[in-house]
Amino acid sequence: MSPRRSPSDNRLPYQRSPFRTAENATFLRPFVKWAGGKSQLLGQFQALYPKPSSLGRYLEPFLGSGAVFFHVKALLQPSRALLCDTNAELIDTFLAVRDELDSLIELLRQHQKQHCESYYYEIRTHSPRTRAARAARLIYLNKTGFNGLYRVNSRGLFNVPFGRHVNPTIFNEALLRAASVALRAAELHSHDFRNLSVVARKGDFIYFDPPYQPLSKTAYFTSYTRGSFGEKDQRDLANLYTELDRRGCLLMLSNSDTPLVRELFADFRIHQVSARRTINSNSEKRGPVPEVVVLNYDTQTSRKPTSPPR
Ligand SMILES: C[S@@+](CC[C@H](N)C(=O)[O-])C[C@H]1O[C@@H](n2cnc3c(N)ncnc32)[C@H](O)[C@@H]1O
Repeated sequence: MSPRRSPSDNRLPYQRSPFRTAENATFLRPFVKWAGGKSQLLGQFQALYPKPSSLGRYLEPFLGSGAVFFHVKALLQPSRALLCDTNAELIDTFLAVRDELDSLIELLRQHQKQHCESYYYEIRTHSPRTRAARAARLIYLNKTGFNGLYRVNSRGLFNVPFGRHVNPTIFNEALLRAASVALRAAELHSHDFRNLSVVARKGDFIYFDPPYQPLSKTAYFTSYTRGSFGEKDQRDLANLYTELDRRGCLLMLSNSDTPLVRELFADFRIHQVSARRTINSNSEKRGPVPEVVVLNYDTQTSRKPTSPPR
């Protein structure tokens, strides 16, 4: 008998994934926690993806934990993917999972054995030389630091405090192996999203998940990397979306539901979804928050609607 799944359980059982591992049952899902991560929205996203028959390459310029990439990979099986994020350490970690998995797992085992508060603070000061060691450090700090945050100071040094988790799971070997297989047909770069203008082609399916446009001026909580993502970036992103729409790409974008976002994407199809923000500086503001998903195609046919000339 197959295990019962609650309607809110958006994860895909490994039996339906082409990336099942021999070791044991697993789900293809992120191996790090990430601010603004979309795992909880995948059930609502599923109905909004284009139909598989129309899928060419998959592009994701704001990768984060890769929750949507892993979901799309298991469901729609694009043959190629291009994944980017300006966080070079994060991209390096994905590359280590793809290309240096055995060394990475060995290093994670060593972190797991020695884990305690003083060890966390010691590792936080390290700058390992090899890519596998840097990736193991990032995954270890991510799983044991406060709320899975990634935050660096003005000198680029990771400064998130210890997380006080009871018996944190630092890594799941079967999951890392499934992620490594899923990443084989993916190219990864630490590029700014604007670079997509050069590489996107007609027929590509592109999912954009930028740092949120803040709901209020005091709610800016997007310290993923040293630079922040301001209104000019949101406007550049909307211009890029329009350019790629004209090029014939299939576009899906999520953001907070704000007047600016609705104004910037007024020419496209705006769907509302509801998210519970788990990483917020103010714990009293962790209730459901409406977000928007902007599409330039019809979800039934995956065709672009015939819109009046702009
Ligand atoms: C909302 S998070 C993406 C979360 C991801 N969808 C997930 O499910 O984990 C936004 C990401 O954009 C990245 N980012 C910030 N500014 C960027 C830029 N100018 N170009 C590309 N990526 C950027 C951040 O490093 C962060 O990982």
